[in-house]
Amino acid sequence: MQKKDLIIGIPKEIYQNCRCVAMVPQVVQNLTKNGQTVLIQKDAGKKAYYTNEAYLEAGAKLIDHAPDLYAESDVIIKIRIPLLNKETAKHELDMMKPNATIMSFLAPTLEKENVRRLLENKLTGFAMELIPRISRAQSMDALSSLSTVMGYRAVLLAANHLGKFFPLLMTAAGTVRPANVLVIGAGVAGLQAIAVAHRLGAKVEAFDTRLAVKEQVESLGARFVEMEIPEDMETKYGYAKEASEEFIKKEMEIIGSRFPRTDVVISTALVYGRKAPLLISEEMVKMLQPGSVIIDLAAEQGGNCELSRAGETVYKHDVIIHGPKDLPSQLPLHTSLMYSKNVFNAFQNLYQAEDDSIDLQDEINANALATYKGELVSDIVKKSFSEKGDVS
Ligand code: NAI
Repeated sequence: MQKKDLIIGIPKEIYQNCRCVAMVPQVVQNLTKNGQTVLIQKDAGKKAYYTNEAYLEAGAKLIDHAPDLYAESDVIIKIRIPLLNKETAKHELDMMKPNATIMSFLAPTLEKENVRRLLENKLTGFAMELIPRISRAQSMDALSSLSTVMGYRAVLLAANHLGKFFPLLMTAAGTVRPANVLVIGAGVAGLQAIAVAHRLGAKVEAFDTRLAVKEQVESLGARFVEMEIPEDMETKYGYAKEASEEFIKKEMEIIGSRFPRTDVVISTALVYGRKAPLLISEEMVKMLQPGSVIIDLAAEQGGNCELSRAGETVYKHDVIIHGPKDLPSQLPLHTSLMYSKNVFNAFQNLYQAEDDSIDLQDEINANALATYKGELVSDIVKKSFSEKGDVS
Protein backbone atom coordinates (compact mmCIF):
# COMPACT_ATOMS: atom_id res chain seq x y z
CA MET A 1 0.00 0.00 0.00
CA GLN A 2 1.18 3.56 -0.69
CA LYS A 3 1.70 5.73 2.37
CA LYS A 4 -0.80 8.28 1.07
CA ASP A 5 -3.47 5.55 0.94
CA LEU A 6 -3.18 4.91 4.66
CA ILE A 7 -6.34 6.09 6.39
CA ILE A 8 -5.66 7.95 9.62
CA GLY A 9 -8.30 7.93 12.35
CA ILE A 10 -8.50 10.27 15.34
CA PRO A 11 -11.01 9.03 17.93
CA LYS A 12 -12.57 11.06 20.73
CA GLU A 13 -10.58 10.50 23.93
CA ILE A 14 -12.54 8.49 26.49
CA TYR A 15 -10.27 8.79 29.56
CA GLN A 16 -12.37 10.33 32.32
CA ASN A 17 -12.40 14.14 32.12
CA CYS A 18 -9.78 14.20 29.34
CA ARG A 19 -10.24 17.38 27.34
CA CYS A 20 -7.45 16.91 24.82
CA VAL A 21 -7.50 15.72 21.24
CA ALA A 22 -4.57 13.98 19.55
CA MET A 23 -4.57 16.16 16.43
CA VAL A 24 -5.75 19.73 15.97
CA PRO A 25 -7.14 20.99 12.63
CA GLN A 26 -4.00 22.89 11.59
CA VAL A 27 -1.93 19.70 11.87
CA VAL A 28 -4.64 17.59 10.20
CA GLN A 29 -4.29 19.98 7.27
CA ASN A 30 -0.59 19.11 6.96
CA LEU A 31 -1.70 15.52 6.32
CA THR A 32 -4.68 16.15 4.06
CA LYS A 33 -2.75 18.53 1.82
CA ASN A 34 -0.38 15.63 1.09
CA GLY A 35 -3.34 13.55 -0.02
CA GLN A 36 -3.76 11.62 3.23
CA THR A 37 -7.30 10.67 4.29
CA VAL A 38 -8.02 11.71 7.87
CA LEU A 39 -11.11 10.59 9.77
CA ILE A 40 -12.06 12.41 12.94
CA GLN A 41 -14.72 11.28 15.36
CA LYS A 42 -17.49 13.85 15.75
CA ASP A 43 -16.84 16.21 18.69
CA ALA A 44 -13.35 14.74 19.28
CA GLY A 45 -11.92 18.26 19.60
CA LYS A 46 -14.93 19.91 21.24
CA LYS A 47 -13.61 20.00 24.82
CA ALA A 48 -10.37 21.56 23.55
CA TYR A 49 -12.37 24.14 21.55
CA TYR A 50 -11.53 22.66 18.14
CA THR A 51 -14.86 22.48 16.30
CA ASN A 52 -16.15 19.86 13.86
CA GLU A 53 -16.33 22.66 11.26
CA ALA A 54 -12.62 23.44 11.70
CA TYR A 55 -11.77 19.78 11.04
CA LEU A 56 -13.99 19.73 7.96
CA GLU A 57 -12.25 22.86 6.67
CA ALA A 58 -8.90 21.14 7.29
CA GLY A 59 -10.02 18.37 4.95
CA ALA A 60 -10.92 15.68 7.50
CA LYS A 61 -14.02 13.49 7.30
CA LEU A 62 -16.33 13.39 10.31
CA ILE A 63 -17.34 9.98 11.61
CA ASP A 64 -20.18 9.74 14.11
CA HIS A 65 -19.28 6.58 16.01
CA ALA A 66 -16.00 5.21 17.34
CA PRO A 67 -16.43 1.62 16.02
CA ASP A 68 -16.82 2.89 12.44
CA LEU A 69 -13.73 5.05 12.76
CA TYR A 70 -11.64 2.20 14.20
CA ALA A 71 -12.92 -0.24 11.57
CA GLU A 72 -11.85 2.02 8.69
CA SER A 73 -8.50 3.34 9.96
CA ASP A 74 -5.04 1.98 9.15
CA VAL A 75 -3.38 4.28 11.68
CA ILE A 76 -5.11 5.37 14.88
CA ILE A 77 -3.71 8.50 16.50
CA LYS A 78 -4.59 9.01 20.16
CA ILE A 79 -3.15 10.67 23.21
CA ARG A 80 -4.39 8.75 26.29
CA ILE A 81 -3.73 5.02 26.67
CA PRO A 82 -6.35 2.74 25.03
CA LEU A 83 -9.25 1.81 27.28
CA LEU A 84 -12.55 -0.02 27.32
CA ASN A 85 -15.09 2.18 25.56
CA LYS A 86 -18.13 1.98 27.85
CA GLU A 87 -20.52 3.20 25.15
CA THR A 88 -19.63 0.39 22.77
CA ALA A 89 -18.63 -2.11 25.50
CA LYS A 90 -15.51 -2.77 23.41
CA HIS A 91 -11.89 -2.06 24.19
CA GLU A 92 -10.36 0.51 21.84
CA LEU A 93 -7.66 -1.95 20.78
CA ASP A 94 -10.29 -4.60 20.00
CA MET A 95 -12.02 -2.23 17.59
CA MET A 96 -8.90 -1.86 15.41
CA LYS A 97 -8.31 -3.61 12.08
CA PRO A 98 -5.72 -6.43 12.15
CA ASN A 99 -2.29 -5.13 11.11
CA ALA A 100 -3.30 -1.53 11.84
CA THR A 101 -1.05 0.84 13.77
CA ILE A 102 -1.75 2.87 16.89
CA MET A 103 0.37 5.89 17.85
CA SER A 104 -0.42 6.99 21.40
CA PHE A 105 0.78 6.91 24.97
CA LEU A 106 0.51 3.18 25.61
CA ALA A 107 2.28 2.64 28.97
CA PRO A 108 3.53 -0.67 27.54
CA THR A 109 5.76 -1.50 30.48
CA LEU A 110 2.85 -1.18 32.91
CA GLU A 111 -0.31 -2.07 31.02
CA LYS A 112 0.16 -5.80 30.36
CA GLU A 113 -3.40 -6.24 29.14
CA ASN A 114 -2.93 -3.64 26.45
CA VAL A 115 0.25 -5.31 25.23
CA ARG A 116 -1.61 -8.63 25.11
CA ARG A 117 -4.31 -6.99 22.99
CA LEU A 118 -1.73 -5.47 20.65
CA LEU A 119 -0.26 -8.93 20.16
CA GLU A 120 -3.54 -10.80 19.82
CA ASN A 121 -4.98 -8.30 17.33
CA LYS A 122 -1.72 -8.29 15.31
CA LEU A 123 -1.29 -4.57 15.83
CA THR A 124 1.67 -2.21 15.58
CA GLY A 125 1.88 -0.15 18.76
CA PHE A 126 4.00 2.99 18.71
CA ALA A 127 4.39 4.23 22.29
CA MET A 128 4.91 7.99 22.43
CA GLU A 129 6.53 7.72 25.87
CA LEU A 130 9.27 5.47 24.48
CA ILE A 131 10.56 7.96 21.92
CA PRO A 132 14.26 8.29 22.78
CA ARG A 133 15.51 11.66 24.00
CA ILE A 134 17.99 12.15 21.16
CA SER A 135 18.38 15.43 19.25
CA ARG A 136 16.66 14.10 16.12
CA ALA A 137 13.59 13.16 18.14
CA GLN A 138 13.19 16.47 19.98
CA SER A 139 10.30 17.56 17.77
CA MET A 140 8.48 14.30 18.67
CA ASP A 141 9.08 14.50 22.42
CA ALA A 142 5.52 14.41 23.73
CA LEU A 143 6.69 13.73 27.30
CA SER A 144 8.43 17.10 27.31
CA SER A 145 5.33 18.81 25.90
CA LEU A 146 3.16 17.40 28.69
CA SER A 147 5.80 18.17 31.33
CA THR A 148 5.97 21.77 30.13
CA VAL A 149 2.22 22.11 30.61
CA MET A 150 2.40 20.44 34.01
CA GLY A 151 5.18 22.69 35.30
CA TYR A 152 3.28 25.79 34.20
CA ARG A 153 -0.07 24.68 35.61
CA ALA A 154 1.54 23.58 38.90
CA VAL A 155 2.66 27.14 39.64
CA LEU A 156 -0.74 28.61 38.78
CA LEU A 157 -2.43 26.04 41.02
CA ALA A 158 -0.04 26.89 43.84
CA ALA A 159 -0.70 30.61 43.39
CA ASN A 160 -4.43 29.88 43.48
CA HIS A 161 -4.22 27.95 46.74
CA LEU A 162 -1.70 30.22 48.50
CA GLY A 163 -3.16 32.93 50.70
CA LYS A 164 -0.25 35.20 49.83
CA PHE A 165 1.07 37.18 46.87
CA PHE A 166 3.88 35.66 44.81
CA PRO A 167 5.66 38.97 43.98
CA LEU A 168 7.31 41.59 46.14
CA LEU A 169 4.87 44.48 46.44
CA MET A 170 5.52 48.01 47.66
CA THR A 171 2.08 49.29 48.58
CA ALA A 172 0.66 52.16 50.59
CA ALA A 173 -0.18 49.51 53.19
CA GLY A 174 3.47 48.52 53.42
CA THR A 175 5.88 46.15 51.76
CA VAL A 176 4.80 42.60 50.99
CA ARG A 177 7.66 40.08 50.86
CA PRO A 178 7.75 37.72 47.86
CA ALA A 179 6.68 34.11 48.29
CA ASN A 180 9.43 31.51 48.70
CA VAL A 181 9.06 28.62 46.27
CA LEU A 182 11.05 25.39 46.44
CA VAL A 183 11.07 23.16 43.36
CA ILE A 184 12.23 19.57 43.92
CA GLY A 185 13.34 17.89 40.69
CA ALA A 186 14.47 20.14 37.85
CA GLY A 187 13.58 18.08 34.77
CA VAL A 188 11.36 19.56 32.08
CA ALA A 189 8.38 20.15 34.41
CA GLY A 190 10.56 21.46 37.25
CA LEU A 191 12.45 23.90 35.02
CA GLN A 192 9.17 25.23 33.60
CA ALA A 193 7.81 25.63 37.15
CA ILE A 194 10.95 27.55 38.14
CA ALA A 195 10.62 29.86 35.14
CA VAL A 196 6.93 30.59 35.75
CA ALA A 197 7.29 31.08 39.52
CA HIS A 198 10.23 33.42 38.89
CA ARG A 199 8.20 35.40 36.35
CA LEU A 200 5.41 35.73 38.92
CA GLY A 201 7.96 37.35 41.20
CA ALA A 202 8.59 34.57 43.74
CA LYS A 203 12.00 33.81 45.25
CA VAL A 204 12.76 30.38 43.85
CA GLU A 205 15.09 27.62 45.03
CA ALA A 206 15.46 24.22 43.41
CA PHE A 207 17.13 20.88 43.95
CA ASP A 208 17.86 17.92 41.70
CA THR A 209 20.11 14.90 42.05
CA ARG A 210 21.62 15.63 38.63
CA LEU A 211 24.30 18.26 39.07
CA ALA A 212 24.12 19.04 35.35
CA VAL A 213 20.92 21.03 35.93
CA LYS A 214 22.50 23.46 38.43
CA GLU A 215 23.47 25.82 35.63
CA GLN A 216 20.00 25.63 34.03
CA VAL A 217 18.34 26.33 37.39
CA GLU A 218 20.56 29.36 37.94
CA SER A 219 20.05 30.66 34.40
CA LEU A 220 16.31 30.80 35.17
CA GLY A 221 16.94 33.07 38.15
CA ALA A 222 16.64 30.44 40.89
CA ARG A 223 19.11 29.35 43.56
CA PHE A 224 20.33 25.74 43.44
CA VAL A 225 20.17 24.08 46.86
CA GLU A 226 23.64 22.67 47.41
CA MET A 227 24.30 19.11 48.52
CA GLU A 228 27.22 16.83 47.93
CA ILE A 229 26.13 14.69 44.98
CA PRO A 230 28.05 11.56 43.92
CA GLU A 231 29.12 11.69 40.25
CA ASP A 232 27.24 8.55 39.26
CA MET A 233 23.72 9.91 39.91
CA GLU A 234 23.03 10.30 36.20
CA THR A 235 22.75 7.74 33.39
CA LYS A 236 24.67 8.28 30.15
CA TYR A 237 21.38 9.49 28.62
CA GLY A 238 21.05 12.26 31.21
CA TYR A 239 18.37 10.62 33.35
CA ALA A 240 18.45 10.38 37.13
CA LYS A 241 19.46 7.08 38.71
CA GLU A 242 17.64 5.79 41.75
CA ALA A 243 19.25 7.31 44.85
CA SER A 244 20.35 5.19 47.80
CA GLU A 245 18.42 5.25 51.07
CA GLU A 246 21.33 7.02 52.68
CA PHE A 247 21.33 9.72 49.98
CA ILE A 248 17.56 10.27 50.25
CA LYS A 249 17.86 10.60 54.05
CA LYS A 250 20.48 13.32 53.64
CA GLU A 251 18.48 14.96 50.87
CA MET A 252 15.37 15.09 53.09
CA GLU A 253 17.39 16.78 55.83
CA ILE A 254 18.64 19.42 53.41
CA ILE A 255 15.26 20.02 51.80
CA GLY A 256 13.63 20.02 55.25
CA SER A 257 16.02 22.71 56.44
CA ARG A 258 14.47 25.05 53.81
CA PHE A 259 10.88 24.27 54.89
CA PRO A 260 10.44 26.76 57.81
CA ARG A 261 10.78 29.62 55.29
CA THR A 262 9.10 27.99 52.28
CA ASP A 263 5.57 28.96 51.18
CA VAL A 264 5.22 26.69 48.16
CA VAL A 265 6.80 23.33 47.38
CA ILE A 266 6.48 22.00 43.86
CA SER A 267 7.77 18.45 43.70
CA THR A 268 8.46 16.72 40.39
CA ALA A 269 11.09 14.13 41.33
CA LEU A 270 10.90 10.92 39.31
CA VAL A 271 13.21 8.14 38.26
CA TYR A 272 12.23 6.43 35.01
CA GLY A 273 10.28 3.22 35.53
CA ARG A 274 10.28 3.48 39.34
CA LYS A 275 7.80 4.58 41.97
CA ALA A 276 8.37 8.27 42.80
CA PRO A 277 10.96 8.75 45.58
CA LEU A 278 9.44 9.73 48.92
CA LEU A 279 11.13 13.03 49.81
CA ILE A 280 8.62 14.89 52.01
CA SER A 281 7.59 13.14 55.22
CA GLU A 282 4.67 14.15 57.44
CA GLU A 283 7.19 15.53 59.96
CA MET A 284 8.58 17.80 57.22
CA VAL A 285 5.08 19.02 56.30
CA LYS A 286 4.69 20.15 59.93
CA MET A 287 7.76 22.35 59.47
CA LEU A 288 6.08 24.47 56.79
CA GLN A 289 4.37 27.77 57.65
CA PRO A 290 0.57 27.58 58.12
CA GLY A 291 -1.12 28.19 54.77
CA SER A 292 1.76 26.75 52.75
CA VAL A 293 1.05 24.76 49.61
CA ILE A 294 2.58 21.56 48.24
CA ILE A 295 1.90 20.65 44.62
CA ASP A 296 3.01 17.05 44.18
CA LEU A 297 3.33 16.44 40.44
CA ALA A 298 4.54 12.91 41.18
CA ALA A 299 1.28 12.03 42.99
CA GLU A 300 0.10 9.70 40.22
CA GLN A 301 3.39 7.77 40.43
CA GLY A 302 3.09 7.24 44.18
CA GLY A 303 3.91 10.78 45.31
CA ASN A 304 7.00 12.65 46.55
CA CYS A 305 5.04 13.64 49.66
CA GLU A 306 3.87 11.09 52.22
CA LEU A 307 0.51 12.87 52.58
CA SER A 308 -0.42 13.50 48.96
CA ARG A 309 -3.25 11.61 47.26
CA ALA A 310 -3.52 11.50 43.47
CA GLY A 311 -6.41 13.61 42.26
CA GLU A 312 -7.16 15.02 45.72
CA THR A 313 -6.47 18.06 47.84
CA VAL A 314 -5.47 17.11 51.38
CA TYR A 315 -5.54 19.69 54.21
CA LYS A 316 -3.24 18.63 57.03
CA HIS A 317 -1.16 20.52 59.61
CA ASP A 318 -2.47 23.79 58.09
CA VAL A 319 -0.84 22.88 54.78
CA ILE A 320 -2.66 22.39 51.48
CA ILE A 321 -1.31 19.32 49.67
CA HIS A 322 -2.50 18.98 46.13
CA GLY A 323 -1.78 15.88 44.02
CA PRO A 324 -3.12 16.89 40.61
CA LYS A 325 -4.20 14.33 38.05
CA ASP A 326 -4.34 15.07 34.34
CA LEU A 327 -3.00 18.65 34.47
CA PRO A 328 -2.54 18.67 30.68
CA SER A 329 -6.35 18.66 30.36
CA GLN A 330 -6.40 21.99 32.20
CA LEU A 331 -4.69 23.56 29.19
CA PRO A 332 -6.42 21.59 26.42
CA LEU A 333 -5.85 23.98 23.53
CA HIS A 334 -2.09 24.11 23.81
CA THR A 335 -1.59 20.57 25.10
CA SER A 336 -3.47 19.30 22.03
CA LEU A 337 -1.53 21.61 19.71
CA MET A 338 1.88 20.59 21.07
CA TYR A 339 1.01 16.89 21.13
CA SER A 340 -0.34 17.10 17.57
CA LYS A 341 2.96 18.43 16.31
CA ASN A 342 4.90 15.75 18.21
CA VAL A 343 2.75 12.90 16.91
CA PHE A 344 2.71 14.32 13.36
CA ASN A 345 6.53 14.38 13.33
CA ALA A 346 6.63 10.85 14.75
CA PHE A 347 4.19 9.71 12.03
CA GLN A 348 6.35 11.26 9.30
CA ASN A 349 9.38 9.48 10.72
CA LEU A 350 7.56 6.15 11.10
CA TYR A 351 6.28 6.23 7.53
CA GLN A 352 9.26 7.70 5.68
CA ALA A 353 9.02 5.51 2.62
CA GLU A 354 6.60 6.03 -0.29
CA ASP A 355 4.83 2.82 0.68
CA ASP A 356 3.52 1.79 4.10
CA SER A 357 6.71 -0.01 5.17
CA ILE A 358 8.35 0.84 8.49
CA ASP A 359 12.11 1.00 9.03
CA LEU A 360 12.59 -1.08 12.16
CA GLN A 361 16.29 -0.20 12.29
CA ASP A 362 15.59 3.53 12.66
CA GLU A 363 16.62 4.38 16.24
CA ILE A 364 13.38 6.21 17.04
CA ASN A 365 11.13 3.46 15.68
CA ALA A 366 13.25 0.74 17.25
CA ASN A 367 12.78 2.35 20.67
CA ALA A 368 9.17 3.43 20.45
CA LEU A 369 7.58 0.44 18.72
CA ALA A 370 6.28 -1.78 21.49
CA THR A 371 4.86 -4.22 18.94
CA TYR A 372 5.12 -4.63 15.18
CA LYS A 373 2.29 -6.48 13.43
CA GLY A 374 1.57 -8.52 16.50
CA GLU A 375 5.20 -9.24 17.48
CA LEU A 376 6.83 -7.86 20.61
CA VAL A 377 9.80 -5.82 19.33
CA SER A 378 10.76 -3.30 22.02
CA ASP A 379 13.66 -4.38 24.22
CA ILE A 380 12.36 -2.26 27.09
CA VAL A 381 8.91 -3.85 26.92
CA LYS A 382 10.35 -7.36 26.52
CA LYS A 383 12.57 -6.76 29.54
CA SER A 384 9.76 -5.40 31.69
CA PHE A 385 7.63 -8.44 30.91
CA SER A 386 10.34 -11.01 31.36
CA GLU A 387 11.08 -9.40 34.77
CA LYS A 388 7.42 -9.87 35.67
CA GLY A 389 7.33 -13.30 34.08
CA ASP A 390 4.64 -12.42 31.53
CA VAL A 391 4.27 -12.36 27.76
CA SER A 392 7.11 -14.29 26.19
P1 NAI B 1 11.46 13.18 34.97
O1 NAI B 1 10.10 13.79 34.84
O2 NAI B 1 11.63 11.73 34.76
O3 NAI B 1 12.06 13.51 36.42
C1 NAI B 1 12.00 14.78 36.96
C2 NAI B 1 13.27 15.16 37.64
O4 NAI B 1 13.37 14.54 38.91
C3 NAI B 1 14.57 14.81 36.90
O5 NAI B 1 15.26 16.00 36.63
C4 NAI B 1 15.32 13.94 37.90
O6 NAI B 1 16.72 14.15 37.86
C5 NAI B 1 14.74 14.41 39.22
N1 NAI B 1 14.93 13.53 40.36
C6 NAI B 1 14.90 12.17 40.43
N2 NAI B 1 15.12 11.75 41.68
C7 NAI B 1 15.25 12.86 42.45
C8 NAI B 1 15.49 13.08 43.83
N3 NAI B 1 15.65 12.08 44.70
N4 NAI B 1 15.59 14.36 44.26
C9 NAI B 1 15.44 15.40 43.40
N5 NAI B 1 15.23 15.25 42.09
C10 NAI B 1 15.14 14.00 41.62
O7 NAI B 1 12.48 13.96 34.04
P2 NAI B 1 12.24 14.66 32.65
O8 NAI B 1 11.67 16.00 32.83
O9 NAI B 1 11.47 13.74 31.78
O10 NAI B 1 13.71 14.84 32.05
C11 NAI B 1 14.86 14.35 32.62
C12 NAI B 1 16.03 14.66 31.74
O11 NAI B 1 15.91 14.01 30.47
C13 NAI B 1 16.20 16.12 31.30
O12 NAI B 1 16.56 17.03 32.20
C14 NAI B 1 17.23 15.91 30.20
O13 NAI B 1 18.49 15.69 30.69
C15 NAI B 1 16.67 14.72 29.53
N6 NAI B 1 15.86 15.17 28.40
C16 NAI B 1 16.45 15.17 27.16
C17 NAI B 1 15.73 15.61 26.05
C18 NAI B 1 16.38 15.57 24.72
O14 NAI B 1 17.56 15.47 24.62
N7 NAI B 1 15.59 15.60 23.68
C19 NAI B 1 14.36 16.10 26.16
C20 NAI B 1 13.84 16.08 27.52
C21 NAI B 1 14.58 15.62 28.57
